[in-house]
Amino acid sequence: MDKLQDTIDVLKMYNQNHIINLLNNLEGSKREELLEQLNKIDFHQIMELYDNTKKNIEIKENKIEALKYLDKQKLTKEQKEKFDRLGEEAIKNNEYAVVTMAGGQGTRLGHTGPKGTFKLDVYGKGKYLFEILADNLKEANKKYNVSIPWYIMTSKENNQETVDFLEKNNYFGYNKDDVTIFTQSQLPLVDVNGKLLINKDMKIKEASDGNGGTYTSLRASGSLANMKEKGIKWIFIGGVDNVLLKMVDVTLLGMAIDKQVQIASKSVAKANPKEKVGVFCKMNGHPKVIEYAELPEKMAEEVDDDGELKYGESHIMCNLYTIDAIEKISKESLMYHSAFKKNSYIDENGKEVIPQEPNSYKFESFIFDAFEFFDDIAILRGKREDDFAPVKNKEGVDSPKTTKELYEKYWERQQRNA
Ligand code: UTP
Repeated sequence: MDKLQDTIDVLKMYNQNHIINLLNNLEGSKREELLEQLNKIDFHQIMELYDNTKKNIEIKENKIEALKYLDKQKLTKEQKEKFDRLGEEAIKNNEYAVVTMAGGQGTRLGHTGPKGTFKLDVYGKGKYLFEILADNLKEANKKYNVSIPWYIMTSKENNQETVDFLEKNNYFGYNKDDVTIFTQSQLPLVDVNGKLLINKDMKIKEASDGNGGTYTSLRASGSLANMKEKGIKWIFIGGVDNVLLKMVDVTLLGMAIDKQVQIASKSVAKANPKEKVGVFCKMNGHPKVIEYAELPEKMAEEVDDDGELKYGESHIMCNLYTIDAIEKISKESLMYHSAFKKNSYIDENGKEVIPQEPNSYKFESFIFDAFEFFDDIAILRGKREDDFAPVKNKEGVDSPKTTKELYEKYWERQQRNA
């Protein structure tokens, strides 16, 4: 009884009377489950994040500088050979693991089910996004005669469906013993009046807390400890939706080893100064990915002596870390960003509302916000047509249609060059 009253007091304090009504209307295990969930929610944090959505973003005086990069196409023969040899050595020594972030909601694509279960219409038969990733890893395993441990991060929302799908498809031929699935943490969704949304199952509606949650989730799930036990020294973290993602690039790995950095990233050149992508820079002396809206227009157009955009290296979710870097970041707090999204909910009358327009805030941390904890990172510029074809939108740019074309063209080129 005391527990219930304590919870009600907290709910009153944070203006969540609709949840008190819900608690009063529930009985038995349903009520217990909701109580248990409520007791885990940090209302202070959520209300602080909600209040931040009402504030104007403070534009601080930041010192922005260009960040150096190497272009993979322009490496000297000696450089390339050295990097490849170092990278290959580490892989053959079983020091390399791969993490796939598959906890996103994929709202823009609008596919029902986890994004990795989306089938791209390639070569008539089609290929699932998870299948494309498995193919990429299997190819590397064969080439280097290893079996790279593969960690897949899901959300609470899509975990079971992901597990069932991978089981049903026999992990697309990947050795099941080398696959670890772990779940990321979540945060409640909040409406425009600061009220937490109620889900169909009569619990608080939550969503994964952004891809920046990867670091703490790796730690909390025991995956980091598991990697240490295996002697892993390098961890690649990539998204689920880039069908040209190279998860095992010995040049990138060798460059990181050679330069003795804790983090290395693959970039692609920005298509034009106005392309809406985040680019690498140094901000106040630390590496950072700056969002297109935050980069002053004049800077976005600045070119260097070679005529290349000074702020032209796009972040493509292709990042490599030492295990020490992951350990360090997993103990830090990343900032949260808010996104205004469409989320269905149960209203005061117990009816489900499916909004046609965005109605609620989702709070997310971003994977690249961790770069600023380091003095330097190494960047390798890849090639857009070889490295970047993400499935983001239902139609238009970065849609299944554009991705299919890029994927098929890439493999045609590979065959021609074989
Ligand atoms: P995006 O930020 O593009 O999100 O994720 P999304 O879920 O794919 O799509 P939208 O924005 O809802 O339309 C980039 C990568 O980060 C992962 C995604 O699964 C994708 O691989 N991600 C994103 C997570 O793993 N967890 C999250 O909370 C968010």
